[in-house]
Amino acid sequence: MATLLIFFVFMNLDVLLRMGHCTETRDQILSITPKTQEHVDILRNISTQYETALWQPVSPQYIKEETQVHLFVPANSSETVKDLLQRHAVTHEVLLANANELIEMQTRNDSTDPRSGSTFYERYHSLEDIYYWINRTAHDNPNRVKIILVGSSYEKRPLYALKLSFNNRTNKKAMWIDCGIHAREWVSPAFCLWFVHYSLSFYNINQDITHILDNMDVYVLPVLNPDGYKYTWTSNRMWRKNRSISKTTSCIGVDLNRNFDANWCTEGASHDPCTEIYCGTFPESEPESQAVANFLRSHKDTVQLYLTIHSYSQMLLFPYSCTLEEAENHRDLLEMAQEAAQKIRRYYRNIYRYGAGAKTIYFAPGGSDDWAYNLGIKYSFTFELQDRGRYGFLLPPSHISGACNEALLAVKTIALKVIQKT
Ligand code: ARG
Ligand code: ZN
Repeated sequence: MATLLIFFVFMNLDVLLRMGHCTETRDQILSITPKTQEHVDILRNISTQYETALWQPVSPQYIKEETQVHLFVPANSSETVKDLLQRHAVTHEVLLANANELIEMQTRNDSTDPRSGSTFYERYHSLEDIYYWINRTAHDNPNRVKIILVGSSYEKRPLYALKLSFNNRTNKKAMWIDCGIHAREWVSPAFCLWFVHYSLSFYNINQDITHILDNMDVYVLPVLNPDGYKYTWTSNRMWRKNRSISKTTSCIGVDLNRNFDANWCTEGASHDPCTEIYCGTFPESEPESQAVANFLRSHKDTVQLYLTIHSYSQMLLFPYSCTLEEAENHRDLLEMAQEAAQKIRRYYRNIYRYGAGAKTIYFAPGGSDDWAYNLGIKYSFTFELQDRGRYGFLLPPSHISGACNEALLAVKTIALKVIQKT
């Protein structure tokens, strides 16, 4: 009887709570496709004037008719934003009704929960955990893994790369992979960890990775933007840039992927520190981009393949993003990206678009891929991992293995081709 009573009390409470939903209590992701120029203007206005985070496109200037916009709307501005949309008859679709829950899920460390069944590599990790993992991986594999300090961040955190070197052949070539240049793209650092773990576990078991590691050293920088990454764990999950302070405004952060010396700060980047695509005060003004650039400059004779890992949208991009001109080896790059995308489609039934950056998405000058290419690293790619917008930057941990395995297949495909060609 008492249980029954308690049941009713709770049931009624639940009903009451549901009825009380006139104010939104949850962060949401909306998908909106503007149909007219007026819609475009309204969306630009909302994404700049209200407390929201534009997920796609990267900057309001790229919002255009008949193209999906993904907008993160925090609970406290949800009502205002939906009101505005309704008043102008702009229809929207709720992609995610409860982003809070997803964010909570991603920061939960359920390693102690025996029911969780997910491995270390199938979860997201805090910056501290990643530093710990770097040390531990080097310590446990002293003959194959070395830690290289390539520089430090604006807030003076170390930038560690791992060097995987499985033999001492002379004249060995190398590839470079960096992850986490954009703070909110969490699956990217997860990929770098995945790649290192896979290399160490499957050498001499998987033919492709064995051939790659026999012929190349691999430099892996798991978190290029540690200050931003830390900030996404503690303060704002949607942060993209680094955390450097500007002399002229209170807006913080430079887009590190607009800070390299490749048609720096031309169309597709901004001099305004308050935008998500702020290019900084001059090329390599930021310690993070400078560290990577310095390292690659001093290793350009060995590094033949440059890879930088982002999310989301499922794309394999190559130079140029800073101009419509074709790269001198465009055909090679296209062929490699195409083969990688085909394999992903065949083995994982997932679609990856591919092509030169500027033609495939938008102008994005000052990117690391174009800069590395111009330095002389003729095989240079930007990967945009899963997904295509369903979860966006909030890809659930249960999707990490799928996302990483297909990206790994692409890396192997491209690296094998590079070895073949050189
Ligand atoms: N989403 C990436 C960005 O906006 C695309 C990078 C493509 N390559 C480039 N060099 N911008 O940074
Ligand atoms: Zn990115």
